[in-house]
Amino acid sequence: MQKIKDLLKKTDLQKEDIITLLQAKEEDRLVLLQQAAIIKKQHVGNKVYLRGLIELSNICEKDCYYCGIRKSNTKTLRYNLTDKEVLEAGQFAYENNYGSIVIQSGELQNENFTKRIEQLLKQIKRLSDDKLGITLSCGEQEESVYKRWFDAGAHRYLLRIETSNKKLYEKLHPTNNLHSMDKRLKSLELLRKSGYQVGTGVMIGLPFQNIEHLAKDLLFMKKLDIDMCGMGPYIEHSDTPLFQYKKTLLPLSERFDLTMKMIALLRIIMPDINIASTTALQAIDKVGREKVIQVGANVLMPNITPGKYRDSYSLYENKPCTDENAEDSMSCIDIRVKLAGDEVAYSEWGDSKHFKKRQSND
Ligand code: 5AD
Repeated sequence: MQKIKDLLKKTDLQKEDIITLLQAKEEDRLVLLQQAAIIKKQHVGNKVYLRGLIELSNICEKDCYYCGIRKSNTKTLRYNLTDKEVLEAGQFAYENNYGSIVIQSGELQNENFTKRIEQLLKQIKRLSDDKLGITLSCGEQEESVYKRWFDAGAHRYLLRIETSNKKLYEKLHPTNNLHSMDKRLKSLELLRKSGYQVGTGVMIGLPFQNIEHLAKDLLFMKKLDIDMCGMGPYIEHSDTPLFQYKKTLLPLSERFDLTMKMIALLRIIMPDINIASTTALQAIDKVGREKVIQVGANVLMPNITPGKYRDSYSLYENKPCTDENAEDSMSCIDIRVKLAGDEVAYSEWGDSKHFKKRQSND
């Protein structure tokens, strides 16, 4: 235990240290998780910020080998919310004091899509009297597109790197221009340049992934100096190419535990960023998101997509809450967050403290 305590005192954890911490068991594991909880309270307090999640469409041009809404999956029923449905979800978030929303979508790169998002952003800003914060998660785009969306009112953007290891990245994606890791990295750079608070993240427990990859993922996020992170366990989907490696995967409980440790360690090495407690956690453990709030996460993304579409946005199987409507989820949030020992920060944007600090230093 002393070894773990000594490691946690270090100010610049190295890859080997992180590997040791990711492998911590029993008492050692608890020491790590407790330290992360302390650092969270010190740096970002006990407020949990809400982002009402609107899954705009599952129509996607990409063919990522892990994802249930990949282009080649003909079994997925494709949908596209109407503008009216998106605006109603925005109105719902505003009236229920969410403070912010996230618009997430399958990836499309064309002018119609760009313009649609641009107009929706302006309309949501208008209907909420500029009070709703908006995060986008709509994939890789040209710089001009990122700028248009920023000018229309989005101020945070999530684009996961999925893994920071190039070889692994190439095993998870087709090898063509549409799925290049360099492009993903470039997009993250362009987002920063366009003025966004930038979030990224990885999947944990992927086929071919080892503990060293995960340690390097954490150091990658530190090096990129990200403002926000959303990372979660990989959950196999039977209609995807990676499903064939199911037998090589860690048990779900271990993927969950690794995710907890990854979040705890990220909180320790980047104390003032925003970290989301992701939905995939809840697919494994009913109170998974709450457990992760206790060890470092400070953002929750309740799904406010109209209920009838929820089943179709299946990135992975066994997605939670797909049979509930938004109101049902909302009634649980307050209790769930209190259960984790925190408080919901209603009607607040909850911007990344890390971003604000960087801006004031510039
Ligand atoms: N398991 C877990 N997460 C997944 N995602 C896509 N497919 C899966 C899966 N099978 C995540 C990716 C993507 C985000 C929108 O969903 O990390 O960036």
